[in-house]
Amino acid sequence: MAKPAAGWIPLHSKGFVLLLLLALSVSTALICLIRGASDACDPRRDRVPATADSVRLLRTPDPESAVRKNPLGFMRAKLVLLVSHELSLSGGPLLLMELAFLLRTAGSQVVWITYPKYEEKNEVTYSLEHKMLNRGVQVYSAKGQETIDTAIKADLIILNTAVAGKWLDAVLKERVPQVLPKVLWWIHEMRGHYFKLEYVKHLPFVSGAMIDSHVTAEYWKNRTHDRLKIQMPHTYVVHLGNSKDLMEVAEDSVARRVLREHIRESLGVRSEDLLFAIINSVSRGKGQDLFLHSFYEGLQLIKEQKLQLPMMHAVIVGSDMNAQTKFETELRDFILKKGIQDHVHFVNKTLAVSPYLAAIDVLVQNSQARGECFGRITIEAMAFQLPVLGTAAGGTTEIVVNGSTGFLHPVGKEGVIPLAKNIVQLAAHVEQRLTMGRKGYERVRERFMEQHMAERIASVLKEVLKNSMAHSHA
Ligand SMILES: *[C@@H]1O[C@H](CO)[C@@H](O)[C@H](O)[C@H]1NC(C)=O
Ligand SMILES: *[C@@H]1O[C@H](CO)[C@@H](O)[C@H](O)[C@H]1NC(C)=O
Ligand SMILES: *[C@@H]1O[C@H](CO)[C@@H](O)[C@H](O)[C@H]1NC(C)=O
Repeated sequence: MAKPAAGWIPLHSKGFVLLLLLALSVSTALICLIRGASDACDPRRDRVPATADSVRLLRTPDPESAVRKNPLGFMRAKLVLLVSHELSLSGGPLLLMELAFLLRTAGSQVVWITYPKYEEKNEVTYSLEHKMLNRGVQVYSAKGQETIDTAIKADLIILNTAVAGKWLDAVLKERVPQVLPKVLWWIHEMRGHYFKLEYVKHLPFVSGAMIDSHVTAEYWKNRTHDRLKIQMPHTYVVHLGNSKDLMEVAEDSVARRVLREHIRESLGVRSEDLLFAIINSVSRGKGQDLFLHSFYEGLQLIKEQKLQLPMMHAVIVGSDMNAQTKFETELRDFILKKGIQDHVHFVNKTLAVSPYLAAIDVLVQNSQARGECFGRITIEAMAFQLPVLGTAAGGTTEIVVNGSTGFLHPVGKEGVIPLAKNIVQLAAHVEQRLTMGRKGYERVRERFMEQHMAERIASVLKEVLKNSMAHSHA
């Protein structure tokens, strides 16, 4: 599958080794990708980085990162308990796992629990657990004396997502008040059903809340106050950053090119064609329906204005062919009705987003209603020098600079025509598209790297440790 085309045989032997390594690991990445994420292949975090690992072997170490101080250095020898609501490949748990590894690198003792406990071990939970154990993260059962003792002893407890709040009463029971001063609550969601006292009644009494965007923080403040009559604790906004693994692929032009050619070939998209993608699980909230309307309207505009453009394609990454939901059927019916089946492609849910980011020209972030809490795919796309066409809602407005790194359009039906026009604008203006991509990349380098996220989290953890110490001495 990874047979390199004849034209690639490189000139230098070093380049040749690199290409071989790349081709090998890229092919594994693609096999995993095609098998799907549920195959425990954990492609995004294991396979794609494998590409980067092979490349790293041949690079001299980045002197800058070697001397740069670990911002979490003060966490050395601290005991941290992480409470996850899931052990899965979804955004929340993966992010917490990244933090676990950052803390391990800083020398913390890290204990992970999952509550509620997953029903049965499957390949995904097995491989994630294994990965944590390999990195020295201890994985405990959510209940039991060992966990309770750890909670009492810990310097810091991080609850991940609102739902994890249930663990406090269920397991710690009467000892809850004892731990609250050292609890940091990391919140990544913005949907109504999380505003339940059952989950968040202890929120006012924890040391702090950490939320991924300003607009989400404000929303939580409003909703807890209006609906639940409770007050948010001190709230820190911490924008996320791209993992090192993703950046290594994004910044490797050979890797990008190999992935681009593979993916385009698998989709039947030629290298000169234009490819717009939406990369989210397929659901009404993510707006794939409205995106397809816009894409169709864009094609009409191109016809009306008789623009001479390359062939236009849209790819929807994140569909679930097994589920065959009503919504997905609706999307497919629309495509048939409009006769655009040659232009639209579906790709199963996958966590290996890098190959798709390498293959496309523009990312569309079309999340509806209040938008994304943060929307990590947006900064991931920008790392790949892609312009972003996003809804003017949620975290997207804090990432995309309208007119500079992409364009924003309104949510809902009012957004359909503006998005269509933006699609045509970027299709017709290559120079603008490339410039916006470069600006997006610069913005990522400036503020959305793992190092930035680690620095921001470090300053929050410092505060929380200070608070909890003050409390325990009081
Ligand atoms: C997508 O998933 C379905 C159902 O699991 C499977 O039949 C199909 O081959 C997958 N498609 C690709 C391109 O992997
Ligand atoms: C929060 O409430 C204020 C005042 O009512 C309002 O102006 C603001 O738009 C609300 N913010 C969010 C994100 O809901
Ligand atoms: C984005 O900028 C364009 C002009 O570049 C403007 O027409 C549009 O209203 C702006 N959208 C938002 C949401 O600010």
